[in-house]
Amino acid sequence: MKRILVVYYSQTGQLERIVRSVTAPFEHNAEVQVDTLQLRPAKAYPFPWPFVGFFDQFPECVRLDPAPLAPFQLPQESIEQGYDLVILGYQPWYLSPSPPTTAFLQSPLAARLLNNTPVVTVIGCRNMWIMGQERVREMVRAAGGKLVDNIALVDGGSPYETFITTPVWLLTGRKHFLPGVFTAAGVAERDISGAAHFGQQLLAGLLDGRLQRGESVLDALQACPVNPSYVVSEKMGWRSFWIWSWIVRLAGKQGSPLRVPLLACYALFLGLAIALVVPLTLVARFVLGYVPAYRRWLASQVAYYQREPALVRQ
Ligand SMILES: Cc1cc2nc3c(=O)[nH]c(=O)nc-3n(C[C@H](O)[C@H](O)[C@H](O)COP(=O)(O)O)c2cc1C
Repeated sequence: MKRILVVYYSQTGQLERIVRSVTAPFEHNAEVQVDTLQLRPAKAYPFPWPFVGFFDQFPECVRLDPAPLAPFQLPQESIEQGYDLVILGYQPWYLSPSPPTTAFLQSPLAARLLNNTPVVTVIGCRNMWIMGQERVREMVRAAGGKLVDNIALVDGGSPYETFITTPVWLLTGRKHFLPGVFTAAGVAERDISGAAHFGQQLLAGLLDGRLQRGESVLDALQACPVNPSYVVSEKMGWRSFWIWSWIVRLAGKQGSPLRVPLLACYALFLGLAIALVVPLTLVARFVLGYVPAYRRWLASQVAYYQREPALVRQ
């Protein structure tokens, strides 16, 4: 009997549905026992998000400050026996793991459950996950786990559509904004149900021992395709978040009214950066596309983020 642990946090339920789809093949297999640990913040996040509250999250997300969680509900016996595989479902917030995910990964329980155990991450997000996955990879490694595979599902709309539809969804709760003009926000239904295919491969890899040996079983399946145009944007975006998070935190803790003017400056900066820097980077990317050294560097980055799990720098 193989034992797997499924850990996830989901605010709207989207990631929960993705994780259920991935793990469906395990649920119907008599050789596997599945335990589920749903992470619950001690104080639930509001949905839809209030405008200031939404921006007020970013400094703590980027600095990997854990959100206090409700007590973990997992049988002591299971904790003592350990698991053959941990599936960790999470979503990036501000190019970083969401705070409940960070809290789990930094907890003594994670150090116990992940130690010397293969870990597969499952991401559901708008489309920018590579920097967050780097942080998760570091925390999994710090907890003693072996990251072997990653599944990343992104929103169905184009980057330009989701630039509008994702904030509208998160700030108003409306998933279908201007139907007929924009694709609905969130990961497409066919991608969610199609994720069961990855689960079947994971099950095969669990039963024949490849996952325990640290071998990727999803490598050939494009389970986490990387859009090359996001590599530089995510690196630049994450650096700006890092600097701004330091500035905003000078004004106090999350919720402090003193942070509001700084958050407004940051929102203005973000708007200007998008209006000015994004077109400039489009031009720069076009020009750099003719520079062989840049093309080689970008190709190596894409290969790294697509295959990064166990093999590259662990
Ligand atoms: C505060 C916040 C920040 C977010 N930042 C990102 C991000 O950096 N990259 C991204 O692709 N999606 C981002 N998203 C979208 C989430 O990753 C995710 O798709 C959405 O919140 C739904 O997930 P759920 O299953 O928890 O409901 C963000 C969402 C929230 C609430």
